[in-house]
Amino acid sequence: MMDAAADSPARLEELYELIAHHASLYYDKDAPEISDAEYDALLRELLDLEKKYPLLMHTNSPTQRVGGTVLDGFKKVKHIRPMLSLDNVFNSTELASFWGRVQNNIHEDSGFTCEMKIDGLAVSLLYEDGIFVRGATRGNGRVGEDVTENLRTIHELPLRLKGSIPGQVEVRGEVLMSWKRFNSLNELRESRGETLFANPRNAAAGTLRQLDSSIVAERGLDIFLYYLVDAPSRGVIRQSDALSWLSDRGLPIQPAWERCPSLSEVDTFITRWQEERFNLDYVTDGAVVKLDDLTLWDGLGATAHAPRWAVAYKYPPEEAQTKILSIDISVGRTGALTPVANLDPVRLGGTIVQRAGLHNGDEIRRKDIRVGDVVWVRKAAEIIPEVVAVDFSARSGDASIPFQMPTHCPVCGSEAVRLSGEAVVRCLNRASCPAQLKEGLSYFASREGMDIRGLGDKLSRQLIDCGKVKTLSDIYDLTIEDWAAMDRMGTKSAKNLIAAIEASKSRPLSALIAALGIRYVGKRVAELLAAHFGNMDQIKESSEEKLAEIEGVGPVIASSVAAFFHDSANLDLLERLKARGLNFSSDKKDIRPENDVLRGKSFVFTGELSSMKRSEAETKVKTFGGSVSSSVSAKTSYLVAGDRGGSKLKKAEQLGVSVISEEEFLKMLDFSD
Ligand code: IVH
Repeated sequence: MMDAAADSPARLEELYELIAHHASLYYDKDAPEISDAEYDALLRELLDLEKKYPLLMHTNSPTQRVGGTVLDGFKKVKHIRPMLSLDNVFNSTELASFWGRVQNNIHEDSGFTCEMKIDGLAVSLLYEDGIFVRGATRGNGRVGEDVTENLRTIHELPLRLKGSIPGQVEVRGEVLMSWKRFNSLNELRESRGETLFANPRNAAAGTLRQLDSSIVAERGLDIFLYYLVDAPSRGVIRQSDALSWLSDRGLPIQPAWERCPSLSEVDTFITRWQEERFNLDYVTDGAVVKLDDLTLWDGLGATAHAPRWAVAYKYPPEEAQTKILSIDISVGRTGALTPVANLDPVRLGGTIVQRAGLHNGDEIRRKDIRVGDVVWVRKAAEIIPEVVAVDFSARSGDASIPFQMPTHCPVCGSEAVRLSGEAVVRCLNRASCPAQLKEGLSYFASREGMDIRGLGDKLSRQLIDCGKVKTLSDIYDLTIEDWAAMDRMGTKSAKNLIAAIEASKSRPLSALIAALGIRYVGKRVAELLAAHFGNMDQIKESSEEKLAEIEGVGPVIASSVAAFFHDSANLDLLERLKARGLNFSSDKKDIRPENDVLRGKSFVFTGELSSMKRSEAETKVKTFGGSVSSSVSAKTSYLVAGDRGGSKLKKAEQLGVSVISEEEFLKMLDFSD
């Protein structure tokens, strides 16, 4: 496989794609595929390349955001005051220097309030004349999402404050999911064959972002408030009193907090809760130390990210020693082969652990982890702990054989492949590998794919469980009787499904490509491939190098597409789909070049167009066989500059990309209506 050319502008573009892909899995779908550390490594690589190629930096680069994303679908809310984060310290020396910095600026004796740091999602709530009127997520710190309806479903959150509270009050706190709710939610999801949430924080995030608040109510969220904004204006001048104020008004506060007159009591609090936190029904990852005297807060102020009057003391992850009894390979829904160690059960972070993640073959080799080894295991944010290191002093004859990753998928037997730029080995048999088929089938049928309405997760699972579907193309062979035999399916729904399946045969080529679930190939890349090649056979036969030359397709995507079309199970599937009459070329309803004037040309738009919307112009380009990208690169053929174009103009000039006006663009299309 071709390796991504590190340090190149192409790698920079590719990093934007990869980071957007993983950020969406993490933030929107709550189903991360890579560890936080791997994600951070991508971000660091991006930062370095942006430094090297400042002109190629995207204006909406993830490196320019404070954190979190603002989703479409919820109303945006501008926070009255920005919602900041906290600086971290990791030991008592760092804590003492925080205190030293504070003392340089204030001379009063304040004392502290220590609270546990709740691992949830920060929210801001507004009450008007005591009535809950609005709740928003932190978002990027300045603009969050209006999640009022979802917050209303939290039982413990009062919709009316106790007592008479005239005017506007803003309080802030953390939305979370208790261990109790989390465990029963995951049990339910397991019984339904749904993917499990990795930890309570992900579960809370995924739930708070639901657009349907009845799902939120069903799953159940919890909340603790810890911040009364502008407390001194209400006569509250201590954080410890603010917590009591909140609690007296009926707002839930966490049980784990204490007023500490001096730093030595702070140390005692931190030490005591390092172990005791595991008896709490919610996840904590540190303690927050705040100056108790609120009247000092404004004077101390904040940096761009964090206030100077508080600091988070992060606990080290819990570690324990145990023995690896065996190593299993699990195959995930995306085909990733993940090694998992079976451990001699050991107590860690409040629970007994028996399994630990080993990430991938490289990591096992690097750490030289073998069956029979005594190892250190650590619990970080995920429920599954990880193996940190081998205790080589305890290695015995039991651990004489180095571990080898399998060369084939242990579930379906297909060859396991390592894609360019990835550390994991994957089974690419999306079509018929039982470990992937359930997700593969509902993805195939989804709106952006074959658009088979009615064929969702539940029905897909049923079809696979009862053995009627062993590979994706089987759905085209099912009879009306087969469909009608499924749960909650009458003849009418069965007929509708048959009609939707029939209609799917004339879905455009780009939709079929997207439906195949090729890694990194979503709607946009599928459109690029369909427009560029015009039919499936051409894509199938194209080399990885040719694929990588397409504007908008970097080496990682190229490697994934080439590997997909190399897998014999996928080639069989394509034959079967073709035999069933699916649309394999783009000359039906696809983005059909009416004439080829723009073939091979790539466009970027900037500024406002006067004759049409930007999206219309982009469709025009595709209709005439060209491609569209969101940022200017050396591969861009033309930058179309509307009114008030900005940084892209500069970049185009630097790279020698032709800049054309809207009129010139229209002329190219000979577009006179
Ligand atoms: S006070 C100006 N107290 O930790 C920020 N934050 O890593 C004031 N958090 O964004 C925050 N428990 O979401 C505070 N007891 C606690 C907290 C807490 C969790 C979160 C909060 C913040 C993040 C910073």
